[in-house]
Amino acid sequence: MITILTIESTCDETAAAVVTDTFQVLGASLATQAALHRAFSGVVPEIAARAHLERILPVIDQALRRADRSLSDLDAVAVATTPGLANSLLIGLSAAKSLAWALDIPLIAIDHLHAHVFACRLAAQRDIYPCLGLIVSGGHTHLYDYPTPLDPVYLGGTLDDAAGEAFDKVATMLKLGFPGGPALARLAERGNDRAFDFPQSFAGDGTLRWSFSGLKTAVRYALAGQGKIDWSSVTIPDQFAADVAASFERAVCEILVEKTVLATKLTGRTRLCVGGGVAANRRLRALLESAAREEAIELLIAPPELCTDNAVMGAIAIEHYRAGRFAALDIDIHPGLVRP
Ligand code: KG4
Ligand code: ZN
Repeated sequence: MITILTIESTCDETAAAVVTDTFQVLGASLATQAALHRAFSGVVPEIAARAHLERILPVIDQALRRADRSLSDLDAVAVATTPGLANSLLIGLSAAKSLAWALDIPLIAIDHLHAHVFACRLAAQRDIYPCLGLIVSGGHTHLYDYPTPLDPVYLGGTLDDAAGEAFDKVATMLKLGFPGGPALARLAERGNDRAFDFPQSFAGDGTLRWSFSGLKTAVRYALAGQGKIDWSSVTIPDQFAADVAASFERAVCEILVEKTVLATKLTGRTRLCVGGGVAANRRLRALLESAAREEAIELLIAPPELCTDNAVMGAIAIEHYRAGRFAALDIDIHPGLVRP
């Protein structure tokens, strides 16, 4: 049996997992940094990197102990090297390189985006490729065609904000704290989703493009009017906030589903796999499920606990191992957002 240690440090979660080539997760560990970034309403890159530095070895140690494995049991070490915050990626990669070198085992470089889709493979415990992949996270909202797990073809995506980023920014306007996506979704449950007709950019235009920045601005105007605003003086009545949240969430989810269904038609793929933090959203899951029923699409959505960042989805490293795709010890990170 092949045993692989996977490491995740792309943004603000420090995580490690021990997985096998039979797709079993022997143990996993995750340290979230939400509390460190809350005061800033967003992830502060330097704080994130320094927290990774403190936590990475204890997190790896805990994953190994939970798996009841020691370093000498490992056959490879895998790490997400793209995309993400530069200094956060560097901490994970430095740890992985050191282990690979010291243990004299192969190093595997994972793409975090494609790992999000692979979470569906792990949960299903059966092959899911070829498929269409939708990644909806805090930094990315993209569609990929996957003839195989390791050779994705970019089909389209957002031109500006990611869906999760829009959730977080609107949540900040609604004074819901950080990270705002889950809090906004909770508030939306008691709102009227038809109270506002927020814009859905590129709707019905036949392209696989999204844009969420105009929607964000429309929400701002609905909450506080146009022009220069002192947010501390803006009061938002509770039901009004819930109505804005529900209408915003509907606008995002509907356009996500419209373009995703279009992508299945353009590619002819009948299997759709969805991952990333926003895939935990209940309205999005429900809309995807009803669209899949109507369009006869086989739908797999990552289980909620594997939607947000984690190292378990790093099990895509198994595919790298099988294909003999290893990284050299001088490999660099590739930070930054993926944009067309
Ligand atoms: O995949 P992820 O953990 O990190 C990135 O790779 O970016 O995604 C985090 C994003 C955040 O924007 C967060 O607000 C959003 O996913 N999110 C949600 C929900 N849970 C997490 N957005 C909407 N509804 C949710 N239930
Ligand atoms: Zn992610």
